[in-house]
Amino acid sequence: MSKQWRIAVIGAGDMGRHHVDGWSRIVHEVVSVTDVDGARASELAESFGIRQVYADYREAVAQPDVDIVSICLPLPLHADVTVAAAKQGKHVFCEKPLAPDFAEAARIERAVREAGVAFGLGFQRNLAKGVLAARDWVQSGRLGRPVVFHCDSVAEIRPKRIMHDAAGNKGPLMDLGCHYYVMWETVFGSRPRSVHAVGRVLGKDRAELAHIPELAIDSAVVTIEYESGDVGVFTVTWGMPPGFRMGAQPDRVFGPKGGAAGGFNHNAGRLALYEENRSEEVDLEVYPSLHAEQFRLFSEAIEEGREAPTGLAAGKEALAVTLAIFRSIETGRVVDFASFREELLHEARPV
Ligand SMILES: NC(=O)c1ccc[n+]([C@@H]2O[C@H](COP(=O)([O-])OP(=O)(O)OC[C@H]3O[C@@H](n4cnc5c(N)ncnc54)[C@H](O)[C@@H]3O)[C@@H](O)[C@H]2O)c1
Repeated sequence: MSKQWRIAVIGAGDMGRHHVDGWSRIVHEVVSVTDVDGARASELAESFGIRQVYADYREAVAQPDVDIVSICLPLPLHADVTVAAAKQGKHVFCEKPLAPDFAEAARIERAVREAGVAFGLGFQRNLAKGVLAARDWVQSGRLGRPVVFHCDSVAEIRPKRIMHDAAGNKGPLMDLGCHYYVMWETVFGSRPRSVHAVGRVLGKDRAELAHIPELAIDSAVVTIEYESGDVGVFTVTWGMPPGFRMGAQPDRVFGPKGGAAGGFNHNAGRLALYEENRSEEVDLEVYPSLHAEQFRLFSEAIEEGREAPTGLAAGKEALAVTLAIFRSIETGRVVDFASFREELLHEARPV
């Protein structure tokens, strides 16, 4: 019988609800919900029968009956709340992305290491059965090698305006792309060699975004070459007008011997697999909740004294890829990933 952990969920927005639901589905108990928006926190707490509601995360993380702090806040707050929780000796599960830059990532890592607490990051989409199927097809050579993995996202400007703020969630290359960068490394079993990207701000003239001093890149074509020779391509726009109905294409992976299409990192039922002169629909088992599954794996890792399956290492890697993309957009050049990553680690080193 595993230990019943007591969880403080910080942030009662969309992910806050997923976290409360995910933790509650396994044996653990959510003891409090915190949000600066009191009505939102109370509503979420009431719908799951949770007694404690806080407006200030510092108060929530200081409670002795809390073992794990589950962070569902905008990106600029991830480091502050992780540091506050770690100082109280609490384990931390934080939503992706890890941090806006390597200095903030280093602050998180220092606090977690000094306190000796566990740190997990919300890459639940990488647990989807479609990612494992793609990994098996690619790494067994069924599709041939090298493969190209193309991911696509086309959306109207995001109703959560902080997504467009260069000082907030930093646009889709930071906020959404990290799921793909993590997935590609898993599927290819390889690290990036070079990164090239071209970016634009298609939503720049929209009145809805006029209050944001610096807009993040909302549209881009990203090409990442991996050491394995495989290639990841991400085309994205979050700059379409409200009510824009054209959806994204399914993600596709293809090599010399075959290809597959579908929502690989979604908790969905089917992929289409294409080989010479044949095709089939592949049924995938799905989880009742990917969030519950990631929390189960995280708590298991704590009990067994292991690093969380996705934590600091995965978060820093995805962040380095994101920053390499930004660097390529700024300079118009191909970025050599290994040396760029070294540069980031060097900059984040304490002086
Ligand atoms: N893993 C995934 O698939 C996935 C999906 C969506 C979002 N996310 C990530 O989850 C995080 C949160 O996103 P979201 O969509 O839930 O955002 P959201 O806007 O729906 O919720 C954020 C909540 O934080 C609250 N908040 C802001 N500042 C606060 C503070 N100082 N103290 C307490 N509460 C505060 C807001 O009032 C809001 O209710 C982001 O990092 C985002 O990238 C992950």
